[in-house]
Amino acid sequence: MANSTSSRSMGTVAMRWHGYRLELLDQRLLPGEEHWITSEDATGVAQCIADMVVRGAPAIGISAAYGVALAARHAGTDDWQGEVERAIDELARSRPTAVNLFWALERMGRVFGACQSLPEAAEQLAAEAVRIHEEDLAANLAMADHALEVMDIQAPMSVLTHCNTGALATGGYGTALGVIRRLHEKQLLERVYADETRPWLQGSRLTAWELTRDEIPVTLNADGAAAAILASGKVKWIVVGADRITANGDVANKIGTYNLAVLARYHSVGFMVVAPSSTVDMALASGAQIPIEEREGTEVREIRGIALAPAGVEVFNPVFDVTPASLIDAIVTEKGAVRNPDLAAMQALFA
Ligand code: MRU
Repeated sequence: MANSTSSRSMGTVAMRWHGYRLELLDQRLLPGEEHWITSEDATGVAQCIADMVVRGAPAIGISAAYGVALAARHAGTDDWQGEVERAIDELARSRPTAVNLFWALERMGRVFGACQSLPEAAEQLAAEAVRIHEEDLAANLAMADHALEVMDIQAPMSVLTHCNTGALATGGYGTALGVIRRLHEKQLLERVYADETRPWLQGSRLTAWELTRDEIPVTLNADGAAAAILASGKVKWIVVGADRITANGDVANKIGTYNLAVLARYHSVGFMVVAPSSTVDMALASGAQIPIEEREGTEVREIRGIALAPAGVEVFNPVFDVTPASLIDAIVTEKGAVRNPDLAAMQALFA
């Protein structure tokens, strides 16, 4: 499965596994160019994650798992155990916020720890990476079912989304975008408003691309237009993904998500977070403990080398923010939905 077009999303996939190499669709170049980058070792995969060739919490975790599998497949010295352990460490340093990365590496580490020989490790780690990939796709399909139950809608409606949570960001189908696909499949979707998602433009470059390919009605809007869209009464739900969800139900997601949650509450619009349980980090008590990645100022000052701001102007570029649980109506995972999340409700599902 992991080597095929694994989603029901017009064949859009972020990665192709070939056993001895991993191909990643270079998301930095979309929508202009569909270029695949091949990695044959963990260093290459770690670089692709850090540079955002591949991005989106679940896709980062899956790619990292394949990176560990590659480390074992290509281990060439007597110190094969050290090689794989160093690969896991290197992959863990690639990006800090999405907990799916650490979850996947921990899972790979457990499998590795039980292996007695290099051939066994190579086989077992590859099999585990494929399982992580397949389970993520299955989780996305299950989440879409749970989300529609929570929404409980009878007539077509419009939703607003932020960033990219589709086949490009996951093992296939998508989290929040999977819910949107399912609404469309059931003829319950009027239109998707897609925030462009400054500064990296995941919304305009990736979400609008995926939805257009799949002929799902989409209107692209500047992030600043979200309040006006909500005020117009056109949107019933905001649906977003997550990079890390803490024990009290706080959610780290793409910068600008928190703004949307505040707007949703003001306008009495539903606010739903959709993420696999691999995004839940019950070890952290609250969102204040989540490490928030800051990226280079050039992402804000420039676009593909064209200056958008005075050279050298100081920039603040946190790429995630934390939405407090109190602003979230439902967190939907493949295990079920947590309505009005708080510590007790989260523990009931994820203890
Ligand atoms: O910086 P990115 O593009 O990796 O950020 C992605 C997001 O914030 C997504 O909303 C999140 O990872 C969920 S993807 C299913």
